Amino acid sequence: MQDWQSKLQGKVVAIAGGTGGIGSTLARKLAPAGVQLVLAARRADRLAALAQELSAIGPTPLVIPTDITDGAQATHFLQQAIAQFGQVDCLVNAAGAGILKQFNKLTEADFDRMLAVNLKGSFHTCQAAIEVMKDRKVGHICNVIGILGKHSMPMGAAYCASKFAVAGMSKCMADEARRYGIKVTLFYFGGIDSPFWDEVSLKVDRSKMLSTETAADAILFAMAAEPQAIPMEINIQPESHLFF
Ligand SMILES: NC(=O)c1ccc[n+]([C@@H]2O[C@H](COP(=O)([O-])OP(=O)(O)OC[C@H]3O[C@@H](n4cnc5c(N)ncnc54)[C@H](OP(=O)(O)O)[C@@H]3O)[C@@H](O)[C@H]2O)c1
Repeated sequence: MQDWQSKLQGKVVAIAGGTGGIGSTLARKLAPAGVQLVLAARRADRLAALAQELSAIGPTPLVIPTDITDGAQATHFLQQAIAQFGQVDCLVNAAGAGILKQFNKLTEADFDRMLAVNLKGSFHTCQAAIEVMKDRKVGHICNVIGILGKHSMPMGAAYCASKFAVAGMSKCMADEARRYGIKVTLFYFGGIDSPFWDEVSLKVDRSKMLSTETAADAILFAMAAEPQAIPMEINIQPESHLFF
């Protein structure tokens, strides 16, 4: 067993966006280490299929169909984890979506959607997680933001607005959460080859992107850090990320 596996064995890890490229890769690494997973996403069929696959290699995950844009559903996700397992050691926010369009072509609906899922969704899950972690005085929130939470890109106005906002929110939250013994890590990944790009109209060279393995390994590194260490930010860019 590797060092990180023994450190995480028996922990309860909730993943919002657990069926996504990054979330499911992370889940597939955590399950064999004996981590109890609680997975949320909107599509119940995908959650059920992943749960079946993970049950063959680790503890049966709890799956909660959840739309994180709805605060009540996000609260239910974390509360169900507590009801079932009595604690949540880590929340990974890996739910999100991208609309990448020329600024003048963005609609108000595009803008609202980006803010709803990427910003308000994280707000809801983080708030619900802090609520269930604070009395234990231990916990970790891993927010997968993306490099567009600190750098601009043509076509990225609505997406960047949501990601810069979630970065600002997360930093303020981290300052407060520290009082409760809760760590917060912000991940600024460059392009990752995942289903995220299936829906994006922008032409990109996916072969030049990072893999979901790289993203999941970075999250594992932060999760397994020694108790007194707070990995505050992790930045990983692909060597070449050409848009053409
Ligand atoms: N891929 C990249 O290049 C990249 C780079 C840096 C950062 N990121 C960020 O990393 C996160 C995960 O990206 P990914 O590449 O893994 O994307 P992905 O493969 O498209 O997965 C997205 C996940 O989020 C879930 N989701 C979407 N809307 C949701 C909602 N309203 N409520 C609950 N779950 C929802 C999806 O499931 P359902 O559709 O079933 O709900 C899916 O599980 C996103 O925040 C993304 O912005 C991605």
